[in-house]
Parts: sequence; C-alpha cells; structure tokens
Amino acid sequence: MLFMSQVVIMDHPLIHHKITILRDCSTGSKEFRELISEISMLMAYEALRDLPLEECEVQTPIAKTKAYKLAGRKLAIVPILRAGLGMVDGILALVPPAKVGHIGIYRDPVTKEPHEYYCKLPDDIQNRQVILLDPMLATGGSACAAVNFIKQRGCHSIKCMHIIAAPEGLSRLHREHPDVSLIIGCVDTCLNENSYIVPGLGDAGDRIFGTK
Ligand code: PRP
Ligand code: URA
Repeated sequence: MLFMSQVVIMDHPLIHHKITILRDCSTGSKEFRELISEISMLMAYEALRDLPLEECEVQTPIAKTKAYKLAGRKLAIVPILRAGLGMVDGILALVPPAKVGHIGIYRDPVTKEPHEYYCKLPDDIQNRQVILLDPMLATGGSACAAVNFIKQRGCHSIKCMHIIAAPEGLSRLHREHPDVSLIIGCVDTCLNENSYIVPGLGDAGDRIFGTK
C-alpha cells in the first residue's frame, strides 16, 4: 500500500516577500542567490518538522532539567544541478551533518524532456531521509526523473522542496510519486508555450549563476 504524502504550500509573509524580489527581473545574481538561500532555510523549517528527538538531561546555570535533542536521523540533501545548488547552503546551515548528493539533469530545449548527465549519491542513501532540492517545478519531468533515480538506489523516504511550482508539475509529481511529500514556496498560474512558469522568475540556473 502506498503511503499518501503531504503537500505543504508555504504561506508566510517572509516567503511571499522574498519570492517577490526573486521574480523582479532587476534583481541581480548576488541578491538572487542570497534570497534563494534564505527562502530554502525558511522552507527547511517545514521540511524538517518531523525530525525525531531524544530525551536528554541538561544542567542550566539554575537547575538540572529534562530536555530534547535531535536523535540523529540520517539526512541527505540532493540538489538537482544546476539551480538546486543554490538551495544547499541554507539547509546545511541548519543541519550541518547532512550528506549531500548531486543529480545533474537538464531539460532538452526543444522537447523539454529531462536528460540526466550526473548522479552521485551517498552510499547509504537507502537508510537516509532525502530532501530533493530544485527551485523550479515546471512540467515536473526533472523532479520525477530525480525521484526515480533515488528510488532505484533503494531509498523510499523522500521529500521534494521547490520554491515555485506550476500546477502542471505539481499534479504530475504528486500523481507519479504519491508517497513523496512536497514542500512548495508558492504555486503559480500555468506554463507558457516554452514550458516556463508564468509568472515565475525566468531561468533559475541562469539567474543564480549569471549565465545570461
Ligand atoms: C530547470 C530547473 C529544473 C527544471 C524544471 O533546470 O532548475 O531542474 O528546469 O523544469 P521541469 O519541471 O519542466 O523539468 P534546467 O533544465 O534549465 O537546467 P539548469 O538548472 O542547468 O539551467
Ligand atoms: N526552469 C526554470 O528555471 N524556470 C522555469 O520557469 C521553468 C523551468
């Protein structure tokens, strides 16, 4: 039986505000990168909500007390290259022991089909909670392909974090991988004839790395 996942659409004034600046075509690469990182950190708050805790004891300057610390659940964050790389630092700042895998996928400019060109995941990926990172979920082709690679390596505990999603990609990812939880910054209107998200923010990889 398939476990039906959660779809969480972040609804927070800080995220709305920061996404608005991301969308603005006059925002330069430096600020764009900083915003992607900050938004990722805010979204990680939701993605990491179910990390298990263990009880411990701590001596404060006043008294000894029962307290809680992270139980050391093994995490892996996996950015889809290139644009997903921009989300890594914000999350590692919160969970420095997380391992980082990489999946390189690009969309064919004509067919929009995903093509994998690189995949390096932690050896013990099957024992880890994976958080897959890509700021853009457009047709959903890249995210579905990446989830397939991770599942083929035996890992079935996967969450996807996307800053902007098109309704088309969201339905496809949820339909093809109903066991994967989705954490989404905001859902836009539609895709255009070139499968770009409308209104979106343009090409996330180019804006992060200044390649256009
Ligand atoms: C972008 C984006 C996603 C993908 C989304 O990457 O970062 O990976 O497109 O589109 P989809 O949902 O229709 O698959 P792109 O292929 O432009 O590669 P890049 O990050 O190297 O620029
Ligand atoms: N990839 C992007 O970077 N932006 C889009 O709008 C669609 C795919």
